[in-house]
Amino acid sequence: MTVLADDVSIDREVARTRAEQAAGPFDAAFARRFEEHFPTLHGLFRTLYGERADGSEALAEVVALAAASWHSRPLELRARDDLRESEPAWFEAPQMLGGVCYVDRYAGGLAGIRAQIPYFQDLGLTYLHLMPLFESPEGNSDGGYAVSSYRRVNPALGTMEELAALAADMRLAGISLVVDFIFNHTSNEHEWARKAVAAEPGYEDFYLIFPDRTMPDAYERTVREIFPDDHPGAFVQLEDGRWIWATFYHFQWDLNYANPAVFRAMAGEMLFLGNQGVEILRMDAVAFIWKRLGTACESLPEAHLLLRAFNAVLRMAAPGLLFKSEAIVHPDEVVQYISPAECQLSYNPLQMALTWEALATRDARLLQKALDERHALPEGTAWVNYVRSHDDIGWTFADEDAAALGIDAYSHRRFLNDFYVGRVPGTFARGVPFQENPKTGDARVTGTTASLAGIEAGDDGGEDRVILAHALALSTGGIPLLYLGDEVAQLNDYSYADDPDTAGDSRWVHRPRRPARAYEQRTDASTPAGRVFSRLTQLIDVRRGTAEFAGNELIPFHTPHASVVGYQRPGRDAAADRVLVLANVADEPVQIDALTLSGLGAEASDLLNGAPRDLREGLTLAAHGFVWLRVTPLP
Ligand code: GLC
Repeated sequence: MTVLADDVSIDREVARTRAEQAAGPFDAAFARRFEEHFPTLHGLFRTLYGERADGSEALAEVVALAAASWHSRPLELRARDDLRESEPAWFEAPQMLGGVCYVDRYAGGLAGIRAQIPYFQDLGLTYLHLMPLFESPEGNSDGGYAVSSYRRVNPALGTMEELAALAADMRLAGISLVVDFIFNHTSNEHEWARKAVAAEPGYEDFYLIFPDRTMPDAYERTVREIFPDDHPGAFVQLEDGRWIWATFYHFQWDLNYANPAVFRAMAGEMLFLGNQGVEILRMDAVAFIWKRLGTACESLPEAHLLLRAFNAVLRMAAPGLLFKSEAIVHPDEVVQYISPAECQLSYNPLQMALTWEALATRDARLLQKALDERHALPEGTAWVNYVRSHDDIGWTFADEDAAALGIDAYSHRRFLNDFYVGRVPGTFARGVPFQENPKTGDARVTGTTASLAGIEAGDDGGEDRVILAHALALSTGGIPLLYLGDEVAQLNDYSYADDPDTAGDSRWVHRPRRPARAYEQRTDASTPAGRVFSRLTQLIDVRRGTAEFAGNELIPFHTPHASVVGYQRPGRDAAADRVLVLANVADEPVQIDALTLSGLGAEASDLLNGAPRDLREGLTLAAHGFVWLRVTPLP
């Protein structure tokens, strides 16, 4: 055992020799990528594990895993790697459209998902996130987010071979497979968890286990409670009286990344998944992966180093893969995870939450401010923009942004929670509270898009709001992501409360089974399903054919109206036309006068109906209405 050297060349030779002994001689492609990325990985390991005698060993083992994984990487995946490397901006194209669903709820199993491929193609999906599908505990498994084996598919859904075959079919259909990489924690039934509890040599330090409350009490002075309905604080007690770190449910145990053996083990699982044909790994709960006493144990610098290290491993062994960050935290922290060297993609929880905030308040200023100031991203990265996910809506806007508009963040969040769970008189929303914490007053909101937007309540503006919210997610840039079933206006499913496995978790209200009847109605314009489907699919079609929607660049466009959000999208060619998006969240129409539009050429065209528009006449935005106009900026 040796500590890592300052001089990268010594460790590089050690790593290469050991890896070649274990995995056979490097081929030319791997040797090239090893030379390119080893220094990065080495530097990260030195910072993370430089003090430890086992750091050098672990690094050499990671390289050996990467080499072995590359050697067994199927040829068609290597071909895909080449394609992605030759077109690194592939995910920024306006043709990109994501979908997300639960395998069991949407289609019964992997075979059912495969049968839906023609529908996904019709819809225009190029990316499909299958919610956690790995082996996990019976009953409550946090929807599969408690993983008992990363190498076995939950037998109720199918097998790993079927998953790889599905990935291949999807590839042929132009759809990239996205699965979760749940690397912050495992289930308490994972083999590593059993071995750690039994103190088997090599596994004692895989999790954070303490003999009594001394350390848990010390940590809990500064960490948040994430699932207070399940247990207070961040620790749960083991049967033998000891305490183990469990940020989420009591059966989801946080891994101890201060131990390089944990990094090595998870890198192995990541590479395994990469070789099944997964193209994007959704990096679950990234903010929580490193702990330090006296801190919030969220978004610590080491969390970024770990992501960079995992990324460097991928670049050696599965270079076509991307990471998508799931950081539902303060917007300053969200962007820190987004870079080509870390996560190339990220959920955009701020735009999501502020879309709902604007719809509730009929005031788009906070959303506008976020688009003006917080939308820009580094080259080679993209947002994943969504209207809602499988999770709750948390009001993660920055308090200082609200204050700049004279809004008190604390009472505003309370208002939004009350509004969306139906406690404000006259509200159009039918949401359900999630994890209300009486100690802090904190809470989040659940509900399907249609139920939150007013369709369930029979509000006249409900369908328009569903379309408006999607029109924003489809036009601000990056990859729009649709929660499957929302395109046919699926409503809340309250039956979750009757099932003991789901009753305690109100997120199940917005995870209904595939709404078969609504899908049947999707061509029937006399139904909400039919109307929402035809309007939404039209937007998707228009987006696909609009080059200006490529990439992430967004130029703010301000009007004098607080209820209007505005921006221009230049696409890749800043000198050419732009698309102007104006959206009105108010319940009344708004008149945009000619003066406001006078920086643009008079001739514009409406992308949704192809009609010419004369901007000298001004524009009317309907209640909850919007326009996508091709405009020419005046020099
Ligand atoms: C992520 C998932 C959420 C899950 C949690 C714990 O936030 O989106 O559904 O409960 O991680 O894995």
